[in-house]
This record gives sequence, structure tokens and C-alpha cells, in this order.
Amino acid sequence: MNIIPNISLKPFNTFGIDANAAFYLEVNSLGDIETVFQSAKTQNISKLVLGGGSNMLLTKDFNGLVMKINLKGIEIVKEDNDHAWVKAAAGEKWHDLVLWCIERNFAGIENLSLIPGNTGAAPMQNIGAYGVELKDTFEELGAFNTSTRQLEKFSKEACCFGYRESVFKRKLKGQYIITSVTLKLSKKPVFHISYGAIEQELKRMGVEQLSIKAISDAVIQIRRSKLPDPAVLGNAGSFFKNPEIAAVKFEELKLTYPAMVGYPASSGMMKVAAGWLIEQCGWKGKRVGNTGSHKDQALVLVNYGGATGDEVYTLALEIKKSVAEKFGISIEPEVNII
Ligand code: EPU
Repeated sequence: MNIIPNISLKPFNTFGIDANAAFYLEVNSLGDIETVFQSAKTQNISKLVLGGGSNMLLTKDFNGLVMKINLKGIEIVKEDNDHAWVKAAAGEKWHDLVLWCIERNFAGIENLSLIPGNTGAAPMQNIGAYGVELKDTFEELGAFNTSTRQLEKFSKEACCFGYRESVFKRKLKGQYIITSVTLKLSKKPVFHISYGAIEQELKRMGVEQLSIKAISDAVIQIRRSKLPDPAVLGNAGSFFKNPEIAAVKFEELKLTYPAMVGYPASSGMMKVAAGWLIEQCGWKGKRVGNTGSHKDQALVLVNYGGATGDEVYTLALEIKKSVAEKFGISIEPEVNII
């Protein structure tokens, strides 16, 4: 194991925040994880598990050991006429897994094309886009219990998935390291194109024969046109979750704001587009120092270069405050604030 002291985490978070870690380790095997939790040297220091670093905001230096999960491998673990069960190691890039499945015509995650980050992080927040969520194809995951130092399996039920939620963000926070994810994919695809922008994009592309590849291409096009590329402009995707409010309150607000965007959620609730709320508060495209709300998607906060995590977080708090003042709605971060 090669533990590196005092390292900048800038290359390891898509926000491009220049915070330091006291120690850094690239984890290449399950044995590495076991050793970290067994060895007297590393056992008791605080740890930060890092996947693609695409859903986090570092607001300070990390005075502990950063474990970058680099476990690799994708395999078919079971197959029948209708389905393929695909197991991917946590360190595989999510989009590489999507492409691997599309190549083999295994359907179910094509709408989740181009989501930044690694496979192991996908269940943490039940990634979702364009009408599909990870939980729709999720079969099980493997995770290392940091107390018992045993590998355990979690079924879909055990993960308690919700909108950008799982048990690993709540009750079991910090207690497990996800090592692999198994998905149940379909050999007879059901296409999900009802999300408005996909149908339009497929038309624009002149697609005649619908396929999972065509849907993936459409999603990639939409994402590229709307969401900034972290390699060019630091960001962590949607900074806030879309808030759920009582349908009654939504109807009330609609009287004042007829253009307000919302979708029916669980019974009696409406999910409101946080991007719309933020835009209405005048933040869209506004730059504050080295940070700001993106010009094409108000929900995405960006680092124009040299922003500190605190600077971004301060902006997030200002945005949250103005949305609360104008609409009486509380918006919560989707990214992990560290
Ligand atoms: N909108 C605005 N102004 C904006 C942005 C959006 O008015 O600046 C309105 C749009 O007009 C649209 C609605 O808000 O009617 C929804 O916008 P969009 O389709 O861009 O989706 P979103 O709800 O803002 C969510 C996910 C994204 C995912 C897209 C597509 C969350 C927090 N975000 O965004 O996920 O790609 O849907 O399914 O649920 C992410 O999690 O990092 C992420 C990018």
C-alpha cells in the first residue's frame, strides 16, 4: 500500500476545489481496504471514501486518510432469455458501465448516460435522470462493513432507496464502503422516452428505429447542451435536490406564479423544479467572485477557477435563503458538504 502524505485533492473532485488531505491512498483491491481497517497505523484516523468526487463540496482540508476507490472489473454473473445480471466493481466509471451494457444490448441504464462519477457512488444517492433511477435496475451491492471488517450484501429493500437517497446517506452513513454493484438488465428493452426533452432530441437527430443506443446518444446530447463539463468548468451537477411540497401549497403558489414548474410526487405532494425557483430569484448566470449559478441550468453551481469550497457554500446558503424568502420553500443540497 502506498499512502501519500499531504496531497491536493483538486484533481479528485469535479468542483476542482483545492483542498488538501493529510493522507491519500488509491485502493486497488479488497485487501487494501482490509489492511487500512486492520493496521494500527491507519485504523483510528478519520477516513473519507472517494469515488469519482463528482458529488461533493470540500469546504476545508481533510485531516485524515482519503481512500480513492479504484476497484475495477465488469462481468455477467447470471443470464437467462430475458435478463442479464451485470456486476461492476465500485471503481468503474459509471458511464463506462453504461456503454459496456449498451454494446451488449442490455437495457435499463441508457437514460443514465454520461452521469459523472463511479459505479460505487451510484447507489449512495440513487442516481437518476430522464425518468429513470438506479433503483429501477438495481439487484444488489457488496459493501465492506468497517466495524466487523466483513463483506456484506445489500438487497434493493435493504438500501432504502428514495429520491437521491439511500440508507448509506442516512442510518448507515460512514459505516460501509461499497465495493460492487449488481444490476438486472433487460434483453428486451422497454424504452423510456416520455421525459419531454428525449423525444424532441430523438426527432431532431432523425432517429427512425428506436434503440437503447439512440436513447443514450440523445441523453448525451441533452446533457452536453445543458450541463457544464466538469473538465472545463468545475461543478458537481445539481447542487440542490428538487424540493417536495404539499400539492395544496403548490396550487396556492401557482396563483401568484402560474409558470411554476412541478411534477406529482408521492401522494398529496408535488416535486418543484429547484432550477426554476433559483432562476426566479435572479441567480441564473450570476457570478459571485469565483463561483456562480450556471447560465444554462440555475441548479448547477460552478467554480470559475480558484473558488474555495467555503465560497461556493456561502453562495449556496444565499440562494437557499432567497428561495425560502420568496417562495417559503426550503431547498436542501444534493451534494455532500465536507
Ligand atoms: N428550469 C428552469 N431554470 C433552470 C433550470 C431548470 O426553469 O435554470 C426548469 C426547466 O425548464 C424544466 C425544469 O426546471 O422545466 C426541470 O429542469 P431539468 O429537466 O433540467 O431537470 P432538473 O429537475 O433541474 C433533474 C436532476 C438532474 C437530471 C435532470 C434530468 C435533480 C436534483 N436533478 O434536474 O440530475 O439530469 O433532472 O432528469 O433531481 C444531478 O443530480 O446532478 C443531475 C444533474
